[in-house]
Amino acid sequence: MRKKIIAANWKMNMTQAESERFVETFLRDCGEIIDVEVVIVPPFTSIAKVMEALGRAQNIKVGAQNMYWEKSGAFTGEISAALLRDLFVHYVVLGHSERRTLFGETDEMVNRKVRAAHEATLRPIVCIGETLEQRDKGNVEKILSIQLRGSLAGLTPKELQETVIAYEPVWAIGTGRNATPQQAQEAHAFIRKTLREMADDTTAERVRIQYGGSVKPENARELMSQSDIDGALVGGASLDPRSFAQIVKAAREK
Ligand code: PGA
Repeated sequence: MRKKIIAANWKMNMTQAESERFVETFLRDCGEIIDVEVVIVPPFTSIAKVMEALGRAQNIKVGAQNMYWEKSGAFTGEISAALLRDLFVHYVVLGHSERRTLFGETDEMVNRKVRAAHEATLRPIVCIGETLEQRDKGNVEKILSIQLRGSLAGLTPKELQETVIAYEPVWAIGTGRNATPQQAQEAHAFIRKTLREMADDTTAERVRIQYGGSVKPENARELMSQSDIDGALVGGASLDPRSFAQIVKAAREK
């Protein structure tokens, strides 16, 4: 049984004071977090504050939104996996579509980051997804296959099992237009089939695949009840602690 994983991607938002208030309200609203893993992914500048505010809260981990693949050195403005581990960060989001389109990240660059993350025992959440044009042309499977094989090249089955994949159709991110549960399930099943080809049955069954793109309290339950959807990567709705708590509760219900 795969444990569902719900992540809050705050993007370039949330000061330290806002982050602290978020955590307090979220912990109060969410109740006991059992059978679900929650990950808060603040901007770098609020990571330490979120850690401090979480204290001993069980089943809540902290992630980062990006990192560079080199271990250390003259790379002004970059952050390494080791620097994130030093802050007790567990996860790192890699290859988000905003990084791919606005900052020119390719599958090869994402792959270098993914491998560097594993080397430092940081768990990557690797984002893939098609644009609307690619979907309209009937190229969803082709694009997902290229991104998966490119971004995850060279990983051992164990590393693959410790990788989270986020299927985020680009046309659904920040648009209010989520994929239907059927569209998402179809893509997730294809991703799992590709993982089976890349590794083996056991590995494919263990990898958690999140859905991302306009997840809200109103659609979370139905999306996460699909057999291959193992959680959500939430952007906009994760900035409000009450909405995010509702999404976490939706993941708990079978
Ligand atoms: P959204 O963003 O929930 O605002 O659509 C999702 C994401 O970019 O991870």
